[in-house]
Amino acid sequence: MADTPHTRVFDDRQQLIHECAEWLITQIDQTPGRFAIALSGGSTPKPLYALLATPDVARRIPWDRVHVFFGDERFVPADHPDNNARMARETLLDHVPIPAANVHAMPTLGEPEAAAAAYQRTLEAYYGASTLDPARPLFDVNLLGMGDDGHTASLFPGAPQLNETSAWVVAVRNQKPETRITLTYPALASARTVLFLVEGAGKQAVVARVLQGDAALPAARVRSDGDLIWFLDRSAAPAA
Ligand code: 6PG
Repeated sequence: MADTPHTRVFDDRQQLIHECAEWLITQIDQTPGRFAIALSGGSTPKPLYALLATPDVARRIPWDRVHVFFGDERFVPADHPDNNARMARETLLDHVPIPAANVHAMPTLGEPEAAAAAYQRTLEAYYGASTLDPARPLFDVNLLGMGDDGHTASLFPGAPQLNETSAWVVAVRNQKPETRITLTYPALASARTVLFLVEGAGKQAVVARVLQGDAALPAARVRSDGDLIWFLDRSAAPAA
């Protein structure tokens, strides 16, 4: 169980993305059998996904063992430009030999609450139980970003979903223009490693507050049943 985050700071975005890809490949190599990763949306991970899709890197990953999930989703059609799974497919998943059955996108049709419940069933089916055991995390890696307001996944400051302690997946209405679906803190924590990937000077002040444990910021309340690591470029890292 990791409460105090561990940070790794890299000179620039290029080195940050390269080192994150290498770290992921090492984790997969060291994990026998299935490897479950929850991907984040937003713009920060796009170059990471694109790097993982390049032939020289993609060929180093046993895609048949990799299962891709999502930490959150905008409740828009799968082909909508704002859809996180669409972004992941365009930058990575459509360019590597991952079995279609291994890509577990969040449903975005019908009612958000029903879609969230359906995704929880997907996670439970993969996990093989409906109760999370800290000794047996659901994800091998939970890859998260952070907004400049300290949100992560679709857990926004002051939102009621921050208080969810049992459901793994919930709908998020009236926080953003589009309704969202998000993993909750219990599901986010169920990982061998929670990895925040954050870059840019615009996030430095919030990163510093999160690392100091400012509980007003949703990212500061993320826990891990395993390790909790921040991969930062120098511009996002707190001043020494
Ligand atoms: C989303 C993401 C969200 C993202 C942050 C940071 O659906 O938008 O999951 O949590 O990680 O908003 O976004 P940027 O990487 O674009 O700054």
